[in-house]
Amino acid sequence: MNLKDLYINFFKEKKHKQIPSAPVVPENDNTVLFNTAGMQPLIPYLMGQPHPYGTRLVDYQKCVRTNDLDEVGDSFHHTFFEMLGNWSLGDYFKKEAITWSFEFLTQVLNIPVERLAVTIFAGNEIAPMDEETKKLWMDLGIKEERICATKEDNWWPNLELPGLCGPDTEMFYWRSDDDIPDKFDPEDERWVEIWNDVFMQYNHNEDGTIAELPKKNVDTGMGVERTTAILEGKNDNYESSIWQPIIKIIEDVSKQKYVDNKKSMRIIADHLRTAVFISADPSLIKPSNVGQGYILRRLIRRAIRHAKTLGIDINSNWEEQIALKILEMYEEYYKELKDNHQIVLDVLKNEKVKFNRTLEKGIREFNKVAKNNKDIDGITAFHLFDTYGFPLELTEELAGELGLKVDVEGFKKKFKEHQELSRTASAGQFKGGLGGHGEIETKYHTATHLLNAALKEVIGKDTHQRGSNITEQRMRFDFNCDHKLTDEEKQKVEDLVNKWIDAEIDVTKEEMSKDEALASGAECMFIEKYPDRVTVYSIGKISKELCGGPHVKNTKELGKFKIKKEESSSAGVRRIKAVLQDD
Ligand code: ALA
Repeated sequence: MNLKDLYINFFKEKKHKQIPSAPVVPENDNTVLFNTAGMQPLIPYLMGQPHPYGTRLVDYQKCVRTNDLDEVGDSFHHTFFEMLGNWSLGDYFKKEAITWSFEFLTQVLNIPVERLAVTIFAGNEIAPMDEETKKLWMDLGIKEERICATKEDNWWPNLELPGLCGPDTEMFYWRSDDDIPDKFDPEDERWVEIWNDVFMQYNHNEDGTIAELPKKNVDTGMGVERTTAILEGKNDNYESSIWQPIIKIIEDVSKQKYVDNKKSMRIIADHLRTAVFISADPSLIKPSNVGQGYILRRLIRRAIRHAKTLGIDINSNWEEQIALKILEMYEEYYKELKDNHQIVLDVLKNEKVKFNRTLEKGIREFNKVAKNNKDIDGITAFHLFDTYGFPLELTEELAGELGLKVDVEGFKKKFKEHQELSRTASAGQFKGGLGGHGEIETKYHTATHLLNAALKEVIGKDTHQRGSNITEQRMRFDFNCDHKLTDEEKQKVEDLVNKWIDAEIDVTKEEMSKDEALASGAECMFIEKYPDRVTVYSIGKISKELCGGPHVKNTKELGKFKIKKEESSSAGVRRIKAVLQDD
Protein backbone atom coordinates (compact mmCIF):
# COMPACT_ATOMS: atom_id res chain seq x y z
CA MET A 1 0.00 0.00 0.00
CA ASN A 2 1.30 3.49 -0.68
CA LEU A 3 1.85 6.22 1.88
CA LYS A 4 -1.36 8.07 1.02
CA ASP A 5 -3.57 5.04 1.56
CA LEU A 6 -1.74 4.01 4.72
CA TYR A 7 -2.19 7.47 6.20
CA ILE A 8 -5.86 7.84 5.35
CA ASN A 9 -6.67 4.36 6.65
CA PHE A 10 -4.75 4.91 9.87
CA PHE A 11 -6.64 8.08 10.74
CA LYS A 12 -9.96 6.67 9.65
CA GLU A 13 -9.37 3.99 12.25
CA LYS A 14 -8.88 6.81 14.75
CA LYS A 15 -12.38 8.01 13.89
CA HIS A 16 -11.38 10.70 11.39
CA LYS A 17 -13.59 11.44 8.39
CA GLN A 18 -11.85 11.67 5.06
CA ILE A 19 -12.57 14.92 3.22
CA PRO A 20 -11.89 15.40 -0.50
CA SER A 21 -8.96 17.49 -1.65
CA ALA A 22 -10.09 21.06 -2.29
CA PRO A 23 -9.29 22.65 -5.66
CA VAL A 24 -5.75 23.89 -6.03
CA VAL A 25 -7.03 27.37 -6.92
CA PRO A 26 -8.66 28.64 -3.72
CA GLU A 27 -12.28 29.64 -4.08
CA ASN A 28 -12.83 31.96 -1.21
CA ASP A 29 -9.36 33.02 -0.28
CA ASN A 30 -7.63 35.38 -2.59
CA THR A 31 -4.70 36.14 -0.37
CA VAL A 32 -2.88 33.41 -2.26
CA LEU A 33 -2.94 32.25 -5.87
CA PHE A 34 -2.87 28.59 -4.91
CA ASN A 35 -3.53 26.36 -1.96
CA THR A 36 -0.15 26.00 -0.32
CA ALA A 37 -1.05 23.80 2.64
CA GLY A 38 -3.64 21.24 3.62
CA MET A 39 -5.10 23.56 6.22
CA GLN A 40 -5.82 26.40 3.87
CA PRO A 41 -9.26 25.30 2.66
CA LEU A 42 -10.10 24.62 6.31
CA ILE A 43 -9.45 28.14 7.60
CA PRO A 44 -13.12 28.98 8.32
CA TYR A 45 -13.47 25.77 10.34
CA LEU A 46 -10.25 26.29 12.25
CA MET A 47 -11.62 29.74 13.05
CA GLY A 48 -14.61 28.13 14.74
CA GLN A 49 -17.27 27.42 12.15
CA PRO A 50 -18.62 23.84 12.50
CA HIS A 51 -17.44 21.51 9.73
CA PRO A 52 -20.17 19.36 8.15
CA TYR A 53 -17.95 16.26 8.50
CA GLY A 54 -17.35 16.72 12.21
CA THR A 55 -14.36 17.49 14.38
CA ARG A 56 -11.80 14.89 13.19
CA LEU A 57 -10.73 15.18 9.58
CA VAL A 58 -8.09 13.59 7.38
CA ASP A 59 -7.17 14.17 3.74
CA TYR A 60 -4.58 14.44 1.06
CA GLN A 61 -4.59 17.95 -0.39
CA LYS A 62 -3.09 19.11 -3.66
CA CYS A 63 -0.80 22.05 -3.03
CA VAL A 64 1.12 24.37 -5.33
CA ARG A 65 3.99 26.50 -4.08
CA THR A 66 5.59 28.68 -6.69
CA ASN A 67 7.84 30.88 -4.56
CA ASP A 68 10.69 28.51 -5.26
CA LEU A 69 9.77 27.85 -8.86
CA ASP A 70 13.23 28.69 -10.05
CA GLU A 71 14.81 26.36 -7.52
CA VAL A 72 13.23 23.36 -9.19
CA GLY A 73 15.97 21.32 -10.79
CA ASP A 74 17.64 20.21 -7.56
CA SER A 75 16.80 16.94 -5.83
CA PHE A 76 13.92 18.07 -3.64
CA HIS A 77 12.13 21.24 -4.79
CA HIS A 78 8.72 20.70 -6.36
CA THR A 79 6.08 23.22 -7.41
CA PHE A 80 3.28 20.73 -6.80
CA PHE A 81 3.04 18.33 -3.92
CA GLU A 82 0.45 16.41 -2.01
CA MET A 83 0.11 17.10 1.67
CA LEU A 84 -1.29 14.57 4.07
CA GLY A 85 -3.03 16.04 7.07
CA ASN A 86 -5.17 15.16 10.04
CA TRP A 87 -7.13 17.75 11.98
CA SER A 88 -8.81 18.18 15.27
CA LEU A 89 -11.32 21.02 15.24
CA GLY A 90 -11.57 21.60 18.97
CA ASP A 91 -11.58 17.82 19.52
CA TYR A 92 -8.33 16.12 20.61
CA PHE A 93 -5.19 18.09 21.34
CA LYS A 94 -1.50 17.48 22.01
CA LYS A 95 -1.62 14.07 23.64
CA GLU A 96 -3.57 12.26 20.94
CA ALA A 97 -1.92 14.11 18.09
CA ILE A 98 1.57 13.23 19.26
CA THR A 99 0.73 9.68 20.26
CA TRP A 100 -0.83 8.96 16.87
CA SER A 101 2.01 10.60 14.99
CA PHE A 102 4.44 8.38 16.87
CA GLU A 103 2.31 5.28 16.32
CA PHE A 104 2.01 5.94 12.59
CA LEU A 105 5.73 6.54 12.16
CA THR A 106 6.95 3.61 14.22
CA GLN A 107 4.23 1.02 13.74
CA VAL A 108 2.75 1.69 10.32
CA LEU A 109 5.81 3.04 8.54
CA ASN A 110 8.09 0.91 10.77
CA ILE A 111 10.63 3.66 11.34
CA PRO A 112 12.98 2.67 14.20
CA VAL A 113 12.79 5.12 17.13
CA GLU A 114 16.60 5.63 16.89
CA ARG A 115 16.14 7.31 13.53
CA LEU A 116 13.66 9.87 14.87
CA ALA A 117 14.11 13.27 16.49
CA VAL A 118 11.73 16.15 17.20
CA THR A 119 11.74 19.89 17.64
CA ILE A 120 9.40 21.67 20.03
CA PHE A 121 8.48 25.27 20.74
CA ALA A 122 10.91 27.13 23.00
CA GLY A 123 8.50 29.85 24.12
CA ASN A 124 8.10 33.56 23.38
CA GLU A 125 5.96 36.48 24.52
CA ILE A 126 2.80 34.80 23.19
CA ALA A 127 3.13 31.30 24.56
CA PRO A 128 5.48 29.55 26.98
CA MET A 129 7.95 26.76 26.27
CA ASP A 130 5.99 23.65 25.28
CA GLU A 131 6.90 21.39 28.22
CA GLU A 132 3.80 19.27 27.72
CA THR A 133 4.88 18.25 24.23
CA LYS A 134 8.38 17.49 25.44
CA LYS A 135 7.04 15.19 28.14
CA LEU A 136 4.68 13.46 25.73
CA TRP A 137 7.54 12.65 23.34
CA MET A 138 9.74 11.43 26.18
CA ASP A 139 7.00 9.19 27.57
CA LEU A 140 6.74 7.61 24.12
CA GLY A 141 10.44 6.83 24.11
CA ILE A 142 12.14 9.78 22.40
CA LYS A 143 15.34 10.55 24.32
CA GLU A 144 15.87 14.05 25.69
CA GLU A 145 18.98 14.56 23.48
CA ARG A 146 16.76 13.98 20.48
CA ILE A 147 14.45 16.86 21.39
CA CYS A 148 15.45 20.35 20.43
CA ALA A 149 13.50 23.51 21.28
CA THR A 150 13.42 26.48 18.89
CA LYS A 151 11.53 29.73 18.84
CA GLU A 152 11.26 30.74 15.20
CA ASP A 153 11.13 27.33 13.55
CA ASN A 154 8.44 25.98 15.82
CA TRP A 155 5.80 28.59 15.29
CA TRP A 156 3.62 27.96 12.24
CA PRO A 157 3.45 29.55 9.72
CA ASN A 158 5.88 32.10 11.17
CA LEU A 159 5.94 34.97 13.59
CA GLU A 160 5.24 37.69 11.03
CA LEU A 161 2.34 36.45 8.93
CA PRO A 162 -1.20 37.34 9.95
CA GLY A 163 -3.75 34.56 10.18
CA LEU A 164 -4.08 31.32 12.09
CA CYS A 165 -0.98 30.23 13.92
CA GLY A 166 0.44 28.33 16.84
CA PRO A 167 3.38 26.44 18.25
CA ASP A 168 4.29 23.19 16.55
CA THR A 169 6.38 20.09 16.91
CA GLU A 170 8.28 18.79 13.91
CA MET A 171 9.40 15.22 13.40
CA PHE A 172 12.74 14.47 11.76
CA TYR A 173 14.16 11.33 10.19
CA TRP A 174 17.86 10.38 9.95
CA ARG A 175 18.26 9.84 6.25
CA SER A 176 21.95 9.05 6.07
CA ASP A 177 23.99 5.83 6.30
CA ASP A 178 26.39 7.61 8.67
CA ASP A 179 26.26 6.70 12.36
CA ILE A 180 23.40 8.50 14.05
CA PRO A 181 24.69 11.09 16.52
CA ASP A 182 23.18 10.89 20.01
CA LYS A 183 22.46 14.57 20.08
CA PHE A 184 19.95 15.93 17.60
CA ASP A 185 20.97 19.00 15.63
CA PRO A 186 18.17 20.27 13.37
CA GLU A 187 20.76 22.18 11.33
CA ASP A 188 22.46 18.92 10.31
CA GLU A 189 21.06 18.23 6.85
CA ARG A 190 21.13 14.50 7.38
CA TRP A 191 18.11 15.01 9.63
CA VAL A 192 15.13 15.69 7.38
CA GLU A 193 11.75 16.94 8.50
CA ILE A 194 8.90 14.61 7.65
CA TRP A 195 5.86 15.77 9.60
CA ASN A 196 4.61 18.79 11.42
CA ASP A 197 1.95 18.87 14.14
CA VAL A 198 0.71 22.42 14.68
CA PHE A 199 -1.24 23.29 17.80
CA MET A 200 -3.30 25.97 16.21
CA GLN A 201 -4.84 28.03 18.92
CA TYR A 202 -4.23 31.65 17.94
CA ASN A 203 -5.18 34.15 15.28
CA HIS A 204 -2.60 36.75 14.41
CA ASN A 205 -4.70 39.84 13.60
CA GLU A 206 -3.74 42.29 10.86
CA ASP A 207 -2.87 44.88 13.51
CA GLY A 208 -0.30 42.52 15.03
CA THR A 209 -2.30 41.53 18.10
CA ILE A 210 -2.79 37.87 18.92
CA ALA A 211 -6.19 36.43 19.82
CA GLU A 212 -6.99 33.00 21.25
CA LEU A 213 -9.26 30.99 18.98
CA PRO A 214 -12.58 29.74 20.35
CA LYS A 215 -11.26 26.18 20.07
CA LYS A 216 -7.89 24.52 20.32
CA ASN A 217 -7.15 22.80 17.04
CA VAL A 218 -4.57 20.44 15.70
CA ASP A 219 -3.31 20.90 12.12
CA THR A 220 -0.75 18.49 10.75
CA GLY A 221 1.10 18.22 7.48
CA MET A 222 3.24 15.52 5.88
CA GLY A 223 4.61 15.89 2.36
CA VAL A 224 3.94 12.80 0.27
CA GLU A 225 6.90 13.27 -2.10
CA ARG A 226 9.53 13.75 0.53
CA THR A 227 8.35 11.06 2.92
CA THR A 228 7.95 8.52 0.11
CA ALA A 229 11.53 9.18 -1.03
CA ILE A 230 12.80 8.78 2.52
CA LEU A 231 10.95 5.53 3.09
CA GLU A 232 12.32 4.19 -0.16
CA GLY A 233 15.84 5.14 0.88
CA LYS A 234 16.33 7.72 -1.88
CA ASN A 235 18.30 10.88 -1.33
CA ASP A 236 16.98 12.27 -4.59
CA ASN A 237 13.19 12.63 -4.47
CA TYR A 238 13.06 12.16 -8.24
CA GLU A 239 14.44 8.62 -7.82
CA SER A 240 11.41 7.56 -5.79
CA SER A 241 8.45 5.63 -7.15
CA ILE A 242 6.52 8.90 -7.40
CA TRP A 243 8.76 10.34 -10.09
CA GLN A 244 10.42 7.39 -11.75
CA PRO A 245 7.54 6.46 -14.09
CA ILE A 246 7.46 10.08 -15.33
CA ILE A 247 11.25 10.33 -15.65
CA LYS A 248 11.19 7.05 -17.58
CA ILE A 249 8.91 8.58 -20.24
CA ILE A 250 11.15 11.65 -20.44
CA GLU A 251 14.11 9.32 -20.99
CA ASP A 252 12.18 7.59 -23.76
CA VAL A 253 11.07 10.72 -25.59
CA SER A 254 14.50 12.35 -25.30
CA LYS A 255 16.57 9.19 -25.78
CA GLN A 256 18.77 10.47 -22.95
CA LYS A 257 19.55 9.13 -19.49
CA TYR A 258 18.38 10.74 -16.25
CA VAL A 259 21.84 10.43 -14.66
CA ASP A 260 23.32 12.68 -17.36
CA ASN A 261 20.49 15.22 -17.50
CA LYS A 262 19.07 15.48 -14.03
CA LYS A 263 18.28 19.18 -13.96
CA SER A 264 16.32 19.39 -17.19
CA MET A 265 14.47 16.15 -16.58
CA ARG A 266 13.46 17.21 -13.08
CA ILE A 267 12.19 20.54 -14.39
CA ILE A 268 10.16 18.90 -17.13
CA ALA A 269 8.71 16.28 -14.77
CA ASP A 270 7.88 18.76 -12.04
CA HIS A 271 6.51 21.55 -14.22
CA LEU A 272 4.36 19.34 -16.40
CA ARG A 273 2.90 17.58 -13.37
CA THR A 274 1.96 20.94 -11.84
CA ALA A 275 0.60 22.17 -15.17
CA VAL A 276 -1.57 19.05 -15.42
CA PHE A 277 -3.06 19.69 -11.99
CA ILE A 278 -3.63 23.41 -12.53
CA SER A 279 -5.29 22.95 -15.88
CA ALA A 280 -7.53 20.14 -14.58
CA ASP A 281 -8.67 22.17 -11.58
CA PRO A 282 -12.40 23.05 -11.59
CA SER A 283 -11.76 26.71 -12.36
CA LEU A 284 -10.13 25.59 -15.63
CA ILE A 285 -7.31 28.15 -15.63
CA LYS A 286 -5.74 28.74 -19.03
CA PRO A 287 -2.23 30.04 -19.72
CA SER A 288 -2.27 33.84 -19.72
CA ASN A 289 -0.26 36.83 -18.56
CA VAL A 290 -1.97 37.28 -15.21
CA GLY A 291 -2.40 35.48 -11.92
CA GLN A 292 -2.59 31.70 -11.94
CA GLY A 293 -2.63 31.70 -15.74
CA TYR A 294 0.79 33.33 -15.77
CA ILE A 295 2.21 30.68 -13.46
CA LEU A 296 0.73 28.00 -15.71
CA ARG A 297 2.31 29.67 -18.73
CA ARG A 298 5.70 29.93 -17.02
CA LEU A 299 5.62 26.27 -16.03
CA ILE A 300 4.77 25.01 -19.50
CA ARG A 301 7.20 27.32 -21.28
CA ARG A 302 10.08 26.48 -18.95
CA ALA A 303 9.38 22.78 -19.45
CA ILE A 304 9.43 23.29 -23.22
CA ARG A 305 12.73 25.08 -23.07
CA HIS A 306 14.30 22.25 -21.11
CA ALA A 307 12.79 19.72 -23.48
CA LYS A 308 14.68 21.57 -26.21
CA THR A 309 17.86 21.39 -24.15
CA LEU A 310 17.44 17.61 -24.10
CA GLY A 311 17.08 17.57 -27.87
CA ILE A 312 13.43 16.50 -27.80
CA ASP A 313 11.60 17.18 -31.05
CA ILE A 314 9.21 19.81 -29.77
CA ASN A 315 6.76 19.21 -32.59
CA SER A 316 6.29 15.57 -31.62
CA ASN A 317 3.68 14.65 -29.01
CA TRP A 318 6.31 14.38 -26.24
CA GLU A 319 4.31 16.53 -23.81
CA GLU A 320 1.24 14.41 -24.36
CA GLN A 321 3.13 11.20 -23.61
CA ILE A 322 4.41 12.65 -20.35
CA ALA A 323 1.01 14.10 -19.40
CA LEU A 324 -0.74 10.79 -20.09
CA LYS A 325 1.53 9.05 -17.61
CA ILE A 326 0.86 11.74 -14.99
CA LEU A 327 -2.89 11.52 -15.58
CA GLU A 328 -2.79 7.74 -15.32
CA MET A 329 -0.88 7.85 -12.04
CA TYR A 330 -3.23 10.30 -10.29
CA GLU A 331 -6.66 9.74 -11.83
CA GLU A 332 -7.62 7.25 -9.17
CA TYR A 333 -7.17 9.90 -6.50
CA TYR A 334 -8.42 13.01 -8.29
CA LYS A 335 -11.60 12.67 -10.29
CA GLU A 336 -11.09 16.02 -12.02
CA LEU A 337 -8.10 14.56 -13.87
CA LYS A 338 -10.41 12.02 -15.45
CA ASP A 339 -13.15 14.55 -16.18
CA ASN A 340 -10.80 17.09 -17.71
CA HIS A 341 -8.41 14.67 -19.38
CA GLN A 342 -8.79 16.16 -22.86
CA ILE A 343 -8.75 19.74 -21.58
CA VAL A 344 -5.36 19.12 -19.95
CA LEU A 345 -3.89 17.71 -23.14
CA ASP A 346 -5.30 20.62 -25.16
CA VAL A 347 -3.92 23.24 -22.77
CA LEU A 348 -0.43 21.79 -23.01
CA LYS A 349 -0.54 21.40 -26.75
CA ASN A 350 -1.99 24.83 -27.50
CA GLU A 351 0.51 26.56 -25.27
CA LYS A 352 3.31 24.57 -26.85
CA VAL A 353 2.22 25.55 -30.36
CA LYS A 354 1.93 29.19 -29.32
CA PHE A 355 5.33 29.31 -27.68
CA ASN A 356 7.00 27.27 -30.36
CA ARG A 357 5.99 29.75 -33.02
CA THR A 358 8.18 32.42 -31.50
CA LEU A 359 10.70 30.52 -29.39
CA GLU A 360 13.40 30.26 -32.05
CA LYS A 361 13.07 33.89 -33.03
CA GLY A 362 13.08 34.96 -29.41
CA ILE A 363 16.22 33.00 -28.64
CA ARG A 364 17.90 34.54 -31.68
CA GLU A 365 16.85 37.97 -30.50
CA PHE A 366 18.15 37.20 -27.02
CA ASN A 367 21.47 35.97 -28.40
CA LYS A 368 21.87 39.11 -30.46
CA VAL A 369 21.63 41.25 -27.36
CA ALA A 370 23.66 38.91 -25.17
CA LYS A 371 26.38 38.53 -27.80
CA ASN A 372 28.65 41.19 -26.43
CA ASN A 373 28.22 40.03 -22.87
CA LYS A 374 25.85 42.87 -22.35
CA ASP A 375 23.32 42.77 -19.54
CA ILE A 376 19.70 42.66 -20.70
CA ASP A 377 17.98 46.01 -20.28
CA GLY A 378 14.34 46.41 -19.33
CA ILE A 379 13.18 47.33 -22.80
CA THR A 380 14.72 44.19 -24.31
CA ALA A 381 13.30 42.00 -21.55
CA PHE A 382 9.89 43.50 -22.16
CA HIS A 383 10.24 43.09 -25.91
CA LEU A 384 11.06 39.39 -25.41
CA PHE A 385 8.00 39.11 -23.19
CA ASP A 386 5.62 41.03 -25.37
CA THR A 387 6.67 39.87 -28.81
CA TYR A 388 8.15 36.42 -28.21
CA GLY A 389 6.17 35.34 -25.15
CA PHE A 390 9.22 34.95 -22.92
CA PRO A 391 8.21 35.09 -19.28
CA LEU A 392 10.62 37.44 -17.50
CA GLU A 393 11.93 34.50 -15.51
CA LEU A 394 12.88 32.70 -18.70
CA THR A 395 14.93 35.68 -19.85
CA GLU A 396 16.53 35.77 -16.42
CA GLU A 397 17.34 32.07 -16.63
CA LEU A 398 18.88 32.39 -20.10
CA ALA A 399 20.86 35.41 -18.94
CA GLY A 400 21.93 33.63 -15.77
CA GLU A 401 23.39 30.78 -17.81
CA LEU A 402 25.70 33.33 -19.45
CA GLY A 403 26.43 35.14 -16.22
CA LEU A 404 24.44 38.19 -17.33
CA LYS A 405 21.90 40.25 -15.43
CA VAL A 406 18.44 41.43 -16.40
CA ASP A 407 17.14 44.87 -15.47
CA VAL A 408 14.03 43.60 -13.69
CA GLU A 409 13.00 47.05 -12.48
CA GLY A 410 13.23 48.41 -16.01
CA PHE A 411 11.14 45.50 -17.23
CA LYS A 412 8.49 46.15 -14.62
CA LYS A 413 8.32 49.80 -15.50
CA LYS A 414 7.83 49.00 -19.16
CA PHE A 415 5.31 46.37 -18.25
CA LYS A 416 3.26 48.85 -16.21
CA GLU A 417 3.38 51.40 -18.97
CA HIS A 418 2.04 49.00 -21.54
CA GLN A 419 -0.58 47.04 -19.75
CA GLU A 420 -3.09 47.55 -17.10
CA LEU A 421 -2.87 44.31 -15.24
CA SER A 422 -4.66 42.79 -12.38
CA ARG A 423 -3.04 43.40 -9.06
CA THR A 424 -2.06 39.79 -8.53
CA ALA A 425 0.03 39.75 -11.67
CA SER A 426 2.67 42.16 -10.55
CA ALA A 427 5.78 40.24 -9.74
CA GLY A 428 5.79 40.99 -6.04
CA GLN A 429 2.47 39.30 -5.51
CA PHE A 430 3.47 35.72 -6.09
CA LYS A 431 4.35 35.35 -2.45
CA GLY A 432 2.57 32.85 -0.26
CA GLY A 433 1.01 33.66 3.05
CA LEU A 434 -2.14 32.90 4.85
CA GLY A 435 -4.70 35.60 5.21
CA GLY A 436 -7.62 36.12 7.45
CA HIS A 437 -11.26 36.22 6.63
CA GLY A 438 -11.80 39.70 7.92
CA GLU A 439 -14.89 41.79 8.22
CA ILE A 440 -14.52 43.37 4.80
CA GLU A 441 -13.95 40.08 3.03
CA THR A 442 -17.03 38.69 4.76
CA LYS A 443 -19.11 41.58 3.42
CA TYR A 444 -17.81 41.04 -0.08
CA HIS A 445 -18.62 37.40 0.26
CA THR A 446 -22.27 38.17 0.90
CA ALA A 447 -22.28 40.80 -1.85
CA THR A 448 -21.08 38.06 -4.21
CA HIS A 449 -24.25 36.08 -3.54
CA LEU A 450 -26.40 39.15 -4.14
CA LEU A 451 -24.62 39.93 -7.40
CA ASN A 452 -25.05 36.34 -8.53
CA ALA A 453 -28.80 36.62 -7.85
CA ALA A 454 -29.11 40.03 -9.52
CA LEU A 455 -27.41 38.79 -12.70
CA LYS A 456 -29.92 35.95 -12.90
CA GLU A 457 -32.76 38.45 -12.83
CA VAL A 458 -31.26 40.92 -15.26
CA ILE A 459 -29.41 38.68 -17.74
CA GLY A 460 -31.31 35.42 -17.42
CA LYS A 461 -31.74 32.56 -15.01
CA ASP A 462 -29.07 30.45 -16.71
CA THR A 463 -26.42 32.90 -15.63
CA HIS A 464 -24.08 31.19 -13.19
CA GLN A 465 -20.96 31.97 -11.26
CA ARG A 466 -17.77 30.86 -12.97
CA GLY A 467 -15.30 32.17 -10.47
CA SER A 468 -14.80 34.74 -7.79
CA ASN A 469 -12.01 36.49 -6.01
CA ILE A 470 -12.12 38.87 -3.09
CA THR A 471 -9.60 41.28 -1.66
CA GLU A 472 -10.04 43.89 1.01
CA GLN A 473 -10.32 46.45 -1.78
CA ARG A 474 -12.83 44.87 -4.13
CA MET A 475 -14.70 41.84 -5.34
CA ARG A 476 -14.37 40.18 -8.69
CA PHE A 477 -17.03 37.93 -10.13
CA ASP A 478 -16.97 35.83 -13.30
CA PHE A 479 -20.15 34.53 -14.89
CA ASN A 480 -21.27 33.01 -18.15
CA CYS A 481 -22.78 35.52 -20.54
CA ASP A 482 -22.54 35.83 -24.29
CA HIS A 483 -22.42 39.61 -24.54
CA LYS A 484 -20.92 42.71 -23.08
CA LEU A 485 -23.37 44.11 -20.54
CA THR A 486 -25.08 47.28 -21.66
CA ASP A 487 -24.97 50.34 -19.43
CA GLU A 488 -28.61 49.76 -18.71
CA GLU A 489 -28.02 46.17 -17.64
CA LYS A 490 -25.16 47.21 -15.39
CA GLN A 491 -27.31 49.90 -13.81
CA LYS A 492 -30.14 47.46 -13.25
CA VAL A 493 -27.82 44.94 -11.58
CA GLU A 494 -26.34 47.61 -9.36
CA ASP A 495 -29.74 48.99 -8.41
CA LEU A 496 -31.07 45.55 -7.60
CA VAL A 497 -28.19 44.70 -5.28
CA ASN A 498 -28.57 48.05 -3.53
CA LYS A 499 -32.31 47.55 -3.24
CA TRP A 500 -31.70 44.25 -1.43
CA ILE A 501 -29.09 45.83 0.80
CA ASP A 502 -31.54 48.60 1.71
CA ALA A 503 -34.27 46.03 2.38
CA GLU A 504 -32.22 44.83 5.38
CA ILE A 505 -32.63 41.14 4.68
CA ASP A 506 -31.39 38.49 7.13
CA VAL A 507 -28.77 36.04 5.97
CA THR A 508 -29.50 32.59 7.32
CA LYS A 509 -27.55 29.38 7.41
CA GLU A 510 -28.83 25.81 7.39
CA GLU A 511 -27.17 22.45 7.37
CA MET A 512 -28.62 19.69 5.22
CA SER A 513 -27.67 16.80 2.98
CA LYS A 514 -26.27 17.64 -0.42
CA ASP A 515 -29.26 16.04 -2.12
CA GLU A 516 -31.72 18.07 -0.09
CA ALA A 517 -29.76 21.21 -0.87
CA LEU A 518 -29.81 20.56 -4.59
CA ALA A 519 -33.46 19.57 -4.53
CA SER A 520 -34.27 22.87 -2.82
CA GLY A 521 -32.75 24.68 -5.78
CA ALA A 522 -29.64 25.94 -4.00
CA GLU A 523 -26.99 27.27 -6.35
CA CYS A 524 -23.59 25.62 -6.35
CA MET A 525 -20.48 26.01 -8.45
CA PHE A 526 -18.56 22.76 -7.96
CA ILE A 527 -20.97 20.14 -6.74
CA GLU A 528 -18.48 17.23 -6.56
CA LYS A 529 -16.37 19.15 -4.15
CA TYR A 530 -18.94 19.25 -1.43
CA PRO A 531 -19.34 16.58 1.24
CA ASP A 532 -22.62 14.78 1.82
CA ARG A 533 -23.66 17.28 4.44
CA VAL A 534 -23.41 20.90 3.40
CA THR A 535 -24.13 24.37 4.63
CA VAL A 536 -26.58 26.47 2.64
CA TYR A 537 -26.75 30.24 3.00
CA SER A 538 -29.99 32.00 2.13
CA ILE A 539 -30.60 35.70 1.77
CA GLY A 540 -34.34 35.93 2.26
CA LYS A 541 -35.96 34.54 -0.85
CA ILE A 542 -33.40 36.18 -3.08
CA SER A 543 -30.49 33.83 -2.96
CA LYS A 544 -29.73 30.32 -1.83
CA GLU A 545 -26.26 28.89 -2.28
CA LEU A 546 -24.14 26.03 -1.04
CA CYS A 547 -21.27 27.80 0.60
CA GLY A 548 -18.73 27.48 3.38
CA GLY A 549 -19.24 31.09 4.46
CA PRO A 550 -18.55 33.26 6.32
CA HIS A 551 -21.32 35.82 5.73
CA VAL A 552 -22.75 38.90 7.38
CA LYS A 553 -25.93 38.51 9.43
CA ASN A 554 -28.00 41.07 7.54
CA THR A 555 -27.58 42.74 4.16
CA LYS A 556 -27.78 46.18 5.79
CA GLU A 557 -24.16 45.69 6.90
CA LEU A 558 -22.89 45.90 3.34
CA GLY A 559 -23.00 49.64 2.59
CA LYS A 560 -23.35 50.74 -1.03
CA PHE A 561 -22.62 48.39 -3.92
CA LYS A 562 -20.94 49.85 -6.98
CA ILE A 563 -19.83 48.17 -10.23
CA LYS A 564 -16.44 49.50 -11.25
CA LYS A 565 -15.78 47.53 -14.35
CA GLU A 566 -17.32 44.97 -16.66
CA GLU A 567 -15.06 43.15 -19.08
CA SER A 568 -14.42 39.91 -20.89
CA SER A 569 -12.72 37.19 -18.87
CA SER A 570 -12.53 34.39 -21.43
CA ALA A 571 -14.75 33.02 -24.19
CA GLY A 572 -18.36 33.26 -23.03
CA VAL A 573 -17.35 34.49 -19.60
CA ARG A 574 -17.70 38.08 -18.39
CA ARG A 575 -16.10 39.61 -15.34
CA ILE A 576 -17.43 42.27 -13.00
CA LYS A 577 -15.29 44.16 -10.55
CA ALA A 578 -17.24 45.90 -7.86
CA VAL A 579 -16.73 47.62 -4.55
CA LEU A 580 -18.69 48.23 -1.38
CA GLN A 581 -18.60 51.82 -0.19
CA ASP A 582 -19.74 53.43 2.99
CA ASP A 583 -23.23 54.85 2.68
N1 ALA B 1 0.05 23.58 8.23
C1 ALA B 1 1.25 22.90 8.62
C2 ALA B 1 2.27 22.84 7.51
O1 ALA B 1 1.97 23.17 6.40
C3 ALA B 1 0.94 21.55 9.13
O2 ALA B 1 3.38 22.46 7.77
